[in-house]
Amino acid sequence: MTENPDQSLTLRRPDDWHLHLRDGAMLKAVLPETARHFARAIIMPNLVPPVVTGDQAAAYRERILAALPEGMSFTPLMTLYLTEGTEPADVAAAHASGLVKAVKLYPAGATTNSNSGVRDFDKVRPVLETMAEIGLPLCTHGEVTTAEVDIFDREAVFIDTVLDPLRRSVPGLRVVMEHITTEQGVAYARSGGDDLAATITTHHLIINRNHILVGGIKPHYYCLPVAKREHHRLALRAAATSGEARFFLGTDSAPHVDALKEHACGCAGCFTATNTMPILAHVFEEEGALDRLEAFTSLNGPAFYGLPVNETSLTLRKGEAQNWPDKLLTEAGPVTLFNPGFPVHWHVEG
Ligand code: NCD
Ligand code: ZN
Repeated sequence: MTENPDQSLTLRRPDDWHLHLRDGAMLKAVLPETARHFARAIIMPNLVPPVVTGDQAAAYRERILAALPEGMSFTPLMTLYLTEGTEPADVAAAHASGLVKAVKLYPAGATTNSNSGVRDFDKVRPVLETMAEIGLPLCTHGEVTTAEVDIFDREAVFIDTVLDPLRRSVPGLRVVMEHITTEQGVAYARSGGDDLAATITTHHLIINRNHILVGGIKPHYYCLPVAKREHHRLALRAAATSGEARFFLGTDSAPHVDALKEHACGCAGCFTATNTMPILAHVFEEEGALDRLEAFTSLNGPAFYGLPVNETSLTLRKGEAQNWPDKLLTEAGPVTLFNPGFPVHWHVEG
């Protein structure tokens, strides 16, 4: 990484270790937003119907590559959606062929399109044991769904009642705690060895729960896990900018058309693919950690996943305040871009 006095910063090209690309018209519209800055991304499998088998992941990968505009390069890293019916042999074959880089655990009912997720963890133990043997990571949506547990406590309760017992009962299982949002998430990620990592989103470094609820409900700041209190946001910023190998970027960029966000029962998800890199440069500069941005976006993720770092680079330069459009227009309808709520002066060159 090189940092110059003229306020430019050249990094190895970043990757996004947690991304929703959707399908059809939405895929076509959002894929270039990611491919413009990122070389690779871990692709979430929560389509309708979900991407459960190796064959489905291979077909989805083909649809992603077919949607990529001429001249852009991008490598989708595919995942499988863990269900109680997932076959260990199918997972092992999808991993052995190089197609699949992780398996995603959604507790049933936790978030968008998670109804086929896991209810009874004993039913998925054979798959998890196979994954531990072959070194295939489990990406966890870390929230319990029990009605009695307050939504702001769901991550901390998941860690204590699901994640920790699960890791103890399947030793050697490599786990990524996806989109952590709490001090407890940061602390638990730090308590593990090199079999445990955590992704942090762009928006959770910027917003706390006041952004969603003060002065009227702001549906475009609503995502899952929901943003928590300010002290949790500060813990996430400290973790992301620490340079520690266990923390890396997973944007969780999750586009939904405005009609479904601005709704009596609005969908969860923030769309951040377009402006993540400039916003992160802003955050890391504020924290005096520009020299650690590359670790977070470009080095720590590949190291955990056992993949080479990217050979190409990305340059960020500081200048005039950015003027992004409010919305990405798609054939499915407009999608509102995440608004950090302050001017961002960093631009991606080229
Ligand atoms: C994601 C989505 O819309 O698919 N939504 C979100 O708020 N992050 C699902 C998820 O990752 O929880
Ligand atoms: Zn997600």
